[in-house]
Amino acid sequence: MHINNLILKNFRSYENLNIKLNDRLNIFVGNNAMGKTNILESIYLCATGKSHRTNYDKEMISWNENESHIQLNFEKDNREERINLNLRKNYKKGAAINGIVITKIADLIGNLNVVIFSPEDLRLIKDGPGGRRKYINTEISQISKIYFYNLNKYNKILKQRNNLLKRMNYKDYDRDSLEVWNVQLIEEGKKIIDLREEYINKLKVIVKDVYKNISGDKEEIELDYEKSTTTEKFEINLNRNIEKDIRQGYSSVGPHLDDIVIKINNVDIRKYGSQGQQRTAALSLKFAEIELIKKELNEVPILLLDDVFSELDRNRQKYLLKYIEEVQTILTCTGVEDILKEYDIKNNIFYVNNGIVSKT
Ligand SMILES: Nc1ncnc2c1ncn2[C@@H]1O[C@H](COP(=O)(O)OP(=O)(O)O)[C@@H](O)[C@H]1O
Ligand SMILES: [Mg+2]
Repeated sequence: MHINNLILKNFRSYENLNIKLNDRLNIFVGNNAMGKTNILESIYLCATGKSHRTNYDKEMISWNENESHIQLNFEKDNREERINLNLRKNYKKGAAINGIVITKIADLIGNLNVVIFSPEDLRLIKDGPGGRRKYINTEISQISKIYFYNLNKYNKILKQRNNLLKRMNYKDYDRDSLEVWNVQLIEEGKKIIDLREEYINKLKVIVKDVYKNISGDKEEIELDYEKSTTTEKFEINLNRNIEKDIRQGYSSVGPHLDDIVIKINNVDIRKYGSQGQQRTAALSLKFAEIELIKKELNEVPILLLDDVFSELDRNRQKYLLKYIEEVQTILTCTGVEDILKEYDIKNNIFYVNNGIVSKT
């Protein structure tokens, strides 16, 4: 799978952009705040229906404009496909695939597959569980639409339950309504836990291989699913925590609190890993994401690398470059690294300057 063309109109700093991409490596070079990440963001948006850095569509529309348009042409199974997005200031965004309007943005998912790697991802292991849950959710959502729907449903139920818990704190107890939410939370939650279990088990095998390749066989990585509760004990645990939940106005049991444990040679590297181990593990998780998509969907996703290349040491850069040979990659950096110059990349460089992209 690869992107052929990207057209942006009034998207962030781009008034009008129309570029043709190479089907392998694409390097966007420019100083800070010139608009490199904006390009990756527009692609990510076409793939997932969401930005990777804001929840507000409005922020992506160029200042002083009311609408923004994105068109992305890509090739999948030797067929050319087209995604059109339309962002409007006070309305929901609109989308079309091959000219046919889709009513649910979620239906975008699964058409264009991308894996994004940003500097924050290098802290995936070290930072709190939120980022790791996001990683797992994004990963499984791309592969399983059912998971994506379940997750959205679960989050809505959770929000309602939490709202009720907060009200119960200072008003009469409404146990019956709470019970209704409990039942739904457990029902949807169990589906999430089961699917996470299934995919994390697949992921753990892949991560092991990838990590070995990057670290040179020396260390053994172990990825495990750390559950807030098992499906069997969900109901018991939820009921056990009800008084606490009411006091806190928050649901203290459920897959919204899950995490993944990453151990190297049996040591939990979330807490005790060296920076090198944590970064290599983060990189491995990202490559495992690509590998799992390949396996499950029979598609090679597009790799978006935002400013991470210079953050990696020589070995990891080399590993990454080996990958780029098979995957369409869109890489941003502030200066072309020496190692990149070892490749014949003259035709792959785009210079980004204040919302203008040129090839010279
Ligand atoms: N909605 C918007 N309208 C116009 N310009 C924007 C908008 N959002 C961000 N920008 C501009 O985009 C630039 C940041 O782009 P970005 O892609 O993040 O830069 P970088 O090259 O560092 O990755 C900044 O100059 C910012 O002012
Ligand atoms: Mg950037």
